[in-house]
Amino acid sequence: MHILGINAYHGNASAALVSDGRLVAAVEEERFNRVKYAAGFPAAAIRYCLETAGISLAEVDHVAVPRNPWARLGTKLFYALKMPSFARERAKVLARFVGIPEALAQAFDAAPKKIRAKFHRVEHHQAHLASTFFVSPFDQAALLSADGLGDFASTMWGTGRGNRMSIAGSIAFPHSLGMYYTGVSQYLGFRKFGDEYKVMGLAAYGEPAYLEEFRQIVRTNGGIGFRLGLDYFQHHRTGPEMTWSDAGKTPELGLMFSGYMAKRLGPARDPASPVEKPQRDAAASLQARLEEVLFGMLRTLHARTGLNAVCLAGGVAFNCVANGKIFAETPFEQIFVQPAAGDAGLAVGAAYFVHHQVLGQPRSFVMDNAYWGPGYSPEKVRSAVAASRLREEGMEIAELPEEQIAKEAAKEIAAGKILGWFQGRAEWGPRALGNRSIVADPRRAGMKEILNARIKHREMFRPFAPSILAEATADFFERSNPSPFMTQAYSVRPEKRAAIPAPTHVDGTGRLQTVTREANPRYWRLIREFGDLTGVPVVLNTSFNDNEPIVCRPEEAIECFLRTKMDALVLGDILVRKPASSAPGASN
Ligand SMILES: [Fe+2]
Repeated sequence: MHILGINAYHGNASAALVSDGRLVAAVEEERFNRVKYAAGFPAAAIRYCLETAGISLAEVDHVAVPRNPWARLGTKLFYALKMPSFARERAKVLARFVGIPEALAQAFDAAPKKIRAKFHRVEHHQAHLASTFFVSPFDQAALLSADGLGDFASTMWGTGRGNRMSIAGSIAFPHSLGMYYTGVSQYLGFRKFGDEYKVMGLAAYGEPAYLEEFRQIVRTNGGIGFRLGLDYFQHHRTGPEMTWSDAGKTPELGLMFSGYMAKRLGPARDPASPVEKPQRDAAASLQARLEEVLFGMLRTLHARTGLNAVCLAGGVAFNCVANGKIFAETPFEQIFVQPAAGDAGLAVGAAYFVHHQVLGQPRSFVMDNAYWGPGYSPEKVRSAVAASRLREEGMEIAELPEEQIAKEAAKEIAAGKILGWFQGRAEWGPRALGNRSIVADPRRAGMKEILNARIKHREMFRPFAPSILAEATADFFERSNPSPFMTQAYSVRPEKRAAIPAPTHVDGTGRLQTVTREANPRYWRLIREFGDLTGVPVVLNTSFNDNEPIVCRPEEAIECFLRTKMDALVLGDILVRKPASSAPGASN
């Protein structure tokens, strides 16, 4: 039985295919159309999923979409009456959403009646909860989803047992931890879709000097819920302004903070002006208050459910700084966050919701790795290399046996070279986890500056992340709980901070990826070889891209390698190196 999950006409459009309970493929549309966070209809992602399963659209039994127009109809109508422009925008999106069967038929050039699949609408946050619990290793867990807004809710919690979830409560628009974080990020001058990540990195550079004020911005009363101080915001008056429908553009959000926020905290930062101490302290206060509220909710959830494992989803679940503190701040002992915790993950969630909650099928799958995207055969990689400018540019190209590739690549990294590492199937979710990664030496304090200057061009306050052999986690970090998808940040042991300065953030933490041999044998071997050479079984890992979606095809990897002046590139079993004389390296 084949179930196709589709997140369409919403940020991070994506598709996933579940066949007889097993995830076969999952990918974001942005990897194909090269538009970051692309919304619109994910035709290429769907095509990839069907091809991977070797089936046609006509063979799909169920299509699951993570949106239910009937959810919270009363709240929707209330705001539609208050804000006619908002009602018009929603009507437009809804019309497209209702037309998904037609869009499918059109994209695949099929007569609508040839599509025999049954269509299911799954409420946004129920799909989020399903996306984490049903693929987690837990038979029972407390569940929490928190994001900006979906089907007019921002937060939902409940319990998962076996193949069922039960919902215990939710919080509706306009109260939203996601909009809180986005609104304050916008106030701090970070106004692009997805900029919250930058502000989380900035927070480590400040003091939570405005925490009292931030307790007014998000208010709690000891229960599981919270309310926004609406004076500080305007989204409840203007409507949640989002442009979702255009596939060719990164989504945009309207400004959510009000003049009152500027009155209380000082003028909003112009995005073009430098970041100063007030912004650093406001970012730290924003993060500190998010953590207070989140940990309070989790403690209540633990008390109510009596369960020791928690599954998180929604954009807020990408807050790796908060996630890393859950063990210390709440009684939960185990956490699961799947790699696409945000809205891309809805495609997986909607499909598994149908499989278990609707069809009652038993659990049979655990997402123990993130490699659900496109992979390319050795022949395809070879022909991409042959057709490229690599030889023209004077590169040394060698095809080596698998075990030698890791050895040679580790030598390059240890020599301070920046290595593009392209292997196997692409990662699901926004983090590069060793298949589409740029890898560098974590021991060199200056590596962050070198990477930023030559390749990534990111703000200096954003940290780079470490990948570590899972078995060595406790040697370097103060916690050893698995973090296979880079969703938790832990403190680096004080005595080890000098050993891995490049991926250690200013607050002494690292957003680590724990790598097991089972989940990614090639990447594990690379890190082990580097550890054998240097005594440090850790590499710095950043995504293989330069202000664009992560590279997907070998051609894109080669293009990015040449454009950004990396020193070496591994594509499957092929090692590409700059001739020794022209490699800039870290030491020059
Ligand atoms: Fe969401």
